[in-house]
Amino acid sequence: MDRGSVLVIDDSEVIRNGIAEKLSSCGYNVTVASDGPQALEISRQRDFDLVISDIVLPKLDGIGVLKYFKKNRPEVPVILITGHATLESAIEAIRGKAFDYLLKPFELSELVNLTREAIAYSRKKRKNGAISRHQQTPPHGLDLGEIIGSSPLMQRVYDKISKVSKTDCTVLIQGESGTGKELIARAIHLNSRRRNKPWIPINCGAIPGELLESELFGHEKGSFTHAFRSRPGRFELAHKGTIFLDEIAELPLVLQVKLLRVIQERCFERIGGLKTIKVDIRIIAATNKNLEESVRRGEFREDLYYRLNVVPIDVPPLRERIEDLEPLANHFLDYFCLSRDIPRKNLSPDVLQCFHEYQWPGNVRELENLLERLVILVEGDTIQVDDLPPRFKSPKELIPGNVPTDFPATGISLKAEIEKYETQLIFKALEKANGVKSEAARLLGINRTTLLEKLRRRGIPLSSI
Ligand SMILES: Nc1ncnc2c1ncn2[C@@H]1O[C@H](COP(=O)(O)OP(=O)(O)OP(=O)(O)O)[C@@H](O)[C@H]1O
Ligand SMILES: [Mg+2]
Repeated sequence: MDRGSVLVIDDSEVIRNGIAEKLSSCGYNVTVASDGPQALEISRQRDFDLVISDIVLPKLDGIGVLKYFKKNRPEVPVILITGHATLESAIEAIRGKAFDYLLKPFELSELVNLTREAIAYSRKKRKNGAISRHQQTPPHGLDLGEIIGSSPLMQRVYDKISKVSKTDCTVLIQGESGTGKELIARAIHLNSRRRNKPWIPINCGAIPGELLESELFGHEKGSFTHAFRSRPGRFELAHKGTIFLDEIAELPLVLQVKLLRVIQERCFERIGGLKTIKVDIRIIAATNKNLEESVRRGEFREDLYYRLNVVPIDVPPLRERIEDLEPLANHFLDYFCLSRDIPRKNLSPDVLQCFHEYQWPGNVRELENLLERLVILVEGDTIQVDDLPPRFKSPKELIPGNVPTDFPATGISLKAEIEKYETQLIFKALEKANGVKSEAARLLGINRTTLLEKLRRRGIPLSSI
């Protein structure tokens, strides 16, 4: 009888086996793990109806396990067990939204009852909420981590992930901001033979040039004013694993030369160091800029570009894979509602319509942030168009059609056509500026008062923007 699958995590063999035996004898399908990382590893390969975890564990503790499941598998209830009845861990367990917790020593029958309740709860939740990630079958047995989306364009991305994960080749991920480039880079690492080895991400745009060199290559003591101690760089730390060079277009030219050598020879020296360090690393780079354009402008070395661009992965913007919007929205709504322990909120059909028509310049990140805000702010259980920020409500009936490409025999009114074109540009600018009028005015190269005047003249109510 399939009463449900349970993952039991406890570092004490006696306890985990005791629990496993009891639950198995009650008809549950039990898997055991002795620490947090092992449990997460197992859970990436299979789904469970329930997780039972000790709080005090080596490496990653029960609270960490709980947080992982709330973020990545919010539909799976977690029961925490603790022998150290500290008030804080109990509070944390509740705050972290454990299904419940048990203090050691406890009666096994108590745990069996809780298990029954938790599994009934999670099955009901799955049936009602139909958490989106379970509707998608990951292609090629890939572990897609947190990636949601099964549009044809994303399937192409998954195909590439599947192919490149089997090799050690350098990958360049390009796509607009917020399209999920980092998730894709992680998925490549997770599905590669390096999955249990270091994953070292570094954002080349977030660290000033002088520090970046030391971050990447490390330094020897005394090699510069504040180098009080020798320190390994990220390339060294990534040995046997994967380094993810995010925002690669921001890498200063001097470091581009050094990176080229690492790519070609897999070796480098620390700053101020004499010893050549050899590393076995997989390099993944990402950018939201057009690197070819940067090469043309002389900001990015052409030879480095070709070395990085061995296998390019282009991540499509959300507006081009709008089929993914609803599953993504449902996933975020599930997650934000569940993690705040509030009833699941829904989107009204009009909101979905607005979402389908919107351009999503900030892509999935914009959708995620918007839904988090709406889950917090909207009181009812359905999110309505009125709850959306102004940028979703541009009065479409005021947007004229396309500029005529052919001349009607009756002629046109140049003034009226120019006026229509101007209106289109104004709306485009407002959309790009997320409704911020001063920013839209800047984009149009006019001052704010002129923009307001143009809007007023067109009878566009300012409050609608
Ligand atoms: N397909 C997806 N499924 C689920 N979540 C996603 C997906 N794509 C993006 N996200 C979420 O959107 C946010 C932005 O994703 P990510 O950081 O990977 O974007 P990015 O392409 O690296 O953006 P940037 O260029 O601005 O760094 C993250 O919180 C991520 O979890
Ligand atoms: Mg990123």
